[in-house]
Amino acid sequence: MRIAVLLGGSSSERDVSLASGLRVLDALRSAGHDATGVDPASGVIDEPALRAAMAAGVARTPPTREALAQLAAGALGPRLAALPAVRDADVVFNALHGGAGEDGTVQAILASAGLRCTGSGPLGSALAMDKDLSKTLFRAAGVPTADWRMAPVATDEVLGALGLPLIVKPSKQGSTVGLTLVKDATDVQPAIARAAEHDDEVMCERYVPGRELTVGILGGEALPVGEIITAGELYDYEAKYTAGMAREVFPADLSAAATAQVQDHARRAFAALKLRGYARIDFRMAPDGSFWCLEANTNPGMTELSLIPQAAAAAGIPFPELCDRIVRLAAAEPPAR
Ligand SMILES: Nc1ncnc2c1ncn2[C@@H]1O[C@H](COP(=O)(O)OP(=O)(O)O)[C@@H](O)[C@H]1O
Ligand SMILES: [Mg+2]
Repeated sequence: MRIAVLLGGSSSERDVSLASGLRVLDALRSAGHDATGVDPASGVIDEPALRAAMAAGVARTPPTREALAQLAAGALGPRLAALPAVRDADVVFNALHGGAGEDGTVQAILASAGLRCTGSGPLGSALAMDKDLSKTLFRAAGVPTADWRMAPVATDEVLGALGLPLIVKPSKQGSTVGLTLVKDATDVQPAIARAAEHDDEVMCERYVPGRELTVGILGGEALPVGEIITAGELYDYEAKYTAGMAREVFPADLSAAATAQVQDHARRAFAALKLRGYARIDFRMAPDGSFWCLEANTNPGMTELSLIPQAAAAAGIPFPELCDRIVRLAAAEPPAR
């Protein structure tokens, strides 16, 4: 098939997307597809230069907000669908992470041009990007998720409802950007202010101690459960994208019953947000064995260190086949609404 791979973009996860996209390009070519990379921030990519720049891996910190604002100012927006490489593609593989590439904007641009795109459509993407709405829908679908309050909110109310420690995070960000583990009551409002630098909506959430688990969904089926073991307290940006900062275990060391339970939660969460194709659903597992859904990722990372590729490998699906299956899922249906 002729495939346009979208990579880069102008969100804080730009560098991760560049790494994902290059791997996806290689994988699709090795599976026999005619794949071309397109960066919606500029319309083109200089693949050899990009490969050289990315050879050392993803930088330890995201690009500065100034750099991203500059990229966003020159971004293609709706003109993306008119680029020949995109317009003439059989399927668009969306390897963008965060921002317009994951929140439904790019999905809507492509769908309105009648183009088939991997993963979820505009509605599911927007719902998954919004943690407040996601959590409301998880609860409605019987998927447990920790109590939360949206800012602005008085410190007393947050402490009464959620206790300490608690998590403060932007409602619509990714890669743990702008997130704080608050241990002291005096830090609640400063943490809210910090998160507000990244999003117009900020959430305070009950802290769930225990283990970090993730479940990939591919074509409606749950992949083997993964556990992330981090040296620090949080699975933060650096731990996510620096080799050796976190250890991932596939399949996670869980009983058959616990595995089935968290996979069932993941399938329900996927359906609750009307997701399509593939996604990764993140959970905490409390010391009493209960599972708490954190969020769904509709354009999960596809780098070497990323979780969906590891989950697929544990299921006996090599990376080129994973990418090929994601493309075929998109090719099989009309563009998602
Ligand atoms: N309520 C919580 N309890 C415990 N840890 C949390 C909680 N919320 C977030 N975290 C930690 O922060 C990380 C990122 O949070 P997450 O909600 O998945 O947002 P993001 O979209 O930034 O990935 C999680 O993987 C987890 O390690
Ligand atoms: Mg997450």
